[in-house]
Amino acid sequence: MAKRTKSAGRKTNKAASKPARAKRKIAAKKSAKKTVKLKVATKTAAANAAPRPSSKPWGQAGRALDGVRILDFTHVQSGPTCTQLLAYMGADVIKVERPGIGDITRGQLRDVKGADSLYFTMLNGSKRSITIDSKHPKGKEILDRLVKQCDVLVENFAPGALDRMGLTFDHINKLNPRMVVASVKGFGPGPYEDCKVYENVAQCAGGSASTTGFREGPPLVTGAQIGDSGTGLHLALGIVAALYQRQRTGRGQKVLCAMQDGVLNLARVKLRDQQRLKSGPLTEYSQYGEGVAFGAATPRAGNDSGGGQPGWILKCKGWENDPDAYVYFITQAPVWTAICDLIGKPEWKTDADYATPNARLPRLKQIFATIEEWTMTMTKFEVMETCNKHDIPVGPILSMKELAEESSLRATGTVVEVDHPTRGRYLTVGNPIKLSDSPADVRRSPLLGEHTDEVLRDVLRFSEQEIADIKASGALSVAEKKAEAA
Ligand code: COA
Repeated sequence: MAKRTKSAGRKTNKAASKPARAKRKIAAKKSAKKTVKLKVATKTAAANAAPRPSSKPWGQAGRALDGVRILDFTHVQSGPTCTQLLAYMGADVIKVERPGIGDITRGQLRDVKGADSLYFTMLNGSKRSITIDSKHPKGKEILDRLVKQCDVLVENFAPGALDRMGLTFDHINKLNPRMVVASVKGFGPGPYEDCKVYENVAQCAGGSASTTGFREGPPLVTGAQIGDSGTGLHLALGIVAALYQRQRTGRGQKVLCAMQDGVLNLARVKLRDQQRLKSGPLTEYSQYGEGVAFGAATPRAGNDSGGGQPGWILKCKGWENDPDAYVYFITQAPVWTAICDLIGKPEWKTDADYATPNARLPRLKQIFATIEEWTMTMTKFEVMETCNKHDIPVGPILSMKELAEESSLRATGTVVEVDHPTRGRYLTVGNPIKLSDSPADVRRSPLLGEHTDEVLRDVLRFSEQEIADIKASGALSVAEKKAEAA
């Protein structure tokens, strides 16, 4: 029994040792597989991870968007603002323009005869220009080739125009699945989606005009181009986000910014106020202090401050002759006592009618009139200097002349002077977004078709003979097209 048991035991041991060995083998294999998997995972993680920090000095490791090539089909203002910003950040922006005409703004609001207008030059800096007739068969071929060579296509044509050129998203996506296709349109999907839109239409449709101006007057548009440049900014953000996502997904996508949406986004505090109306009057609006009832919609608020700290525009010394001798003055609650001392009303610090923000609300008109008596004794810059010593938030009303001459804006590159072969030196607005490791690349705008040959040769790799054939086809120029037709 024992033997048997032994034998059985041995048997059992023998029998058990085989599967045990097999198990060990399997375990070893599994562990090896795991190690390989782990190594692969580590490698992949390393590949996906950001590279080691550059040892190059700050600002000398290239630009943020180096390596990004943009097929720029934009015109007028909204689209060009977007691609100009991306160009400032290092993207290679190739602007495709209609032969002989180009972006319509080249000839709009001209100040120098025969030269590209400031309208154009200030919105198309740091780009290259190629002329292609996008409706010519050969032009279409070149565009297809460009699609394959670029990362982003940006356009702000009227709805449907890009499709009519044959550049539908499906077509682009088949040619280059990695391409981001970014568009500005006036309106998003809905009843107005087919409408053409310009700046002021967007300001009106996006809620800015109905809330700008004085209560007694008509709606007003603002000088800041929130519909065009504002939407261009939104689009630029959408593009860089799509490029970032592409690093994970390997594919492009559509980016759409409707001007109405962009304006509404910028006017969101007014939609805030619309909802607050349900709970009673908007006490920070001066119409509350004046005892004027509120209607059903957010009213125009003149120069009232948009936030919870009341403010107004006040005259300064010289206002009779200088239309910009004004200052924006904010009666911020934490510095109220300093304001009282400065304007010679120390008694307001303890007077129950003036001492608290709520007590002041119905008296804002009279309070600002009193402060104005004080601001009128000084220039806007003297008011600024005096108030800043006491942390009182004020802003001089700066004219465009003053901004153009402001040395600190030149020093930071916000205002840049560039040279141009046909119009001479001009001022432009550089990159308002400062990246510490990516200095802005602000260069003059291109002449119409200035880089046509360069792009055909260096980007699209056409031979000299092919370039000659393309030119002869009439796809690049109006004159040759006509000659061909004749
Ligand atoms: N070769 C051949 N044709 C070209 C071309 C090229 N390189 N570039 C443009 N075109 C054609 C377009 O294909 C279009 O032709 P189609 O209507 O026959 O299809 C035509 O030029 C005009 O384009 P469109 O965008 O309609 O220009 P527009 O001057 O009539 O309208 C806007 C201008 C701004 C109102 C309109 O483009 C628009 O609503 N854009 C969207 C909103 C926007 O960005 N507005 C702000 C402007 S700052």
